[in-house]
Amino acid sequence: MTVLVTGGAGYIGSHVVRLLANRGDAVVVVDDLSEGIASRIGDTPLVQLDLATVGAKDKLVETFKNFDVTSVVHLAARKKVGESVERPDWYQEQNVGGLENLLAAMKEASVDKLVFSSSAATYGIPDADQVNEDFDCKPINPYGQTKLDGEHLAQAAAADWGLREVSLRYFNVAGTGWDDLVDTQIANLVPIIFKSLAEGKAPKVFGNDWPTKDGTCVRDYVHVLDLAEAHLSALDYLDGAEREFDVFNVGTGEGSSVLEVINTVASVTGKEITPDIEPRRAGDPAFLCADVSRIETVLHWRARHNLQDIIASVWKALG
Ligand code: WQD
Repeated sequence: MTVLVTGGAGYIGSHVVRLLANRGDAVVVVDDLSEGIASRIGDTPLVQLDLATVGAKDKLVETFKNFDVTSVVHLAARKKVGESVERPDWYQEQNVGGLENLLAAMKEASVDKLVFSSSAATYGIPDADQVNEDFDCKPINPYGQTKLDGEHLAQAAAADWGLREVSLRYFNVAGTGWDDLVDTQIANLVPIIFKSLAEGKAPKVFGNDWPTKDGTCVRDYVHVLDLAEAHLSALDYLDGAEREFDVFNVGTGEGSSVLEVINTVASVTGKEITPDIEPRRAGDPAFLCADVSRIETVLHWRARHNLQDIIASVWKALG
């Protein structure tokens, strides 16, 4: 009874691996180490593999058998929105092609439980302050499209051969559960602010003329530890006989503006921060916040950390 975590050496994946190991689950990680860091997973077995390569399916079938794998948490993917706009075909190959290989291997080896890492990016620019899972998904970038395609592939496998699957739509993930697992990719607002601080530069605010409480974009920031816990709740849910839903938002239900995030960093660190106001960034919705009623009632999961906890965890890790 082993859980295979793809992308398990990554920022989010390593949190999932550590929580699984801490609760006594047997774990094996598949990661190509292009972004992942092997030291994050300690002595957890690691199979270095790019899921999108020829031969990946057979290597996965072999891994399933060697480690007695019974369920999969699939996080391995490219996730930079801007990069996906520049390289849409590569994102399709990596994110969708990789999942196709994984699903083919799971079918062949009769591994029938999957938790799929999806994204709030599937919603695009919804016309509402809070989005629930029944909203129309109209992704506005190739990254979000690959995540929606992934959800549909998992659903097709469920219909085709009885895969038990759940897709988790991550909102804005930040923070760290352990100092050694801090996000090393400087690709999202919170790590970017801390990098600016370390370099003595002003962080940039992409627009302060949005129709929001202080004119800056509002997002739903969820602590990575809470997000990782949601994966364990989703795995347990897949063991249940009746499963009414297969898509869940993972957020806090609370929105924080860019200025609120910056002010929280200033307050936690005791540093003066005066941001530079820049023009709006293409593709940004003013407001993107999760309706989390489904995950709270069905998976009995709720975020336990707030924005202050998120920022404090990064500040402590950067020590
Ligand atoms: C957050 C807000 C920016 C940098 C991402 C990805 C994807 C998904 C959700 C998982 C926006 C503003 C940013 C800066 C700024 N998660 N900003 N100055 O675009 O909401 O979405 O998270 O799949 O990872 O889609 O995240 O961190 O880029 O931006 O003002 O230097 O901060 O405009 O409003 P985003 P982000």
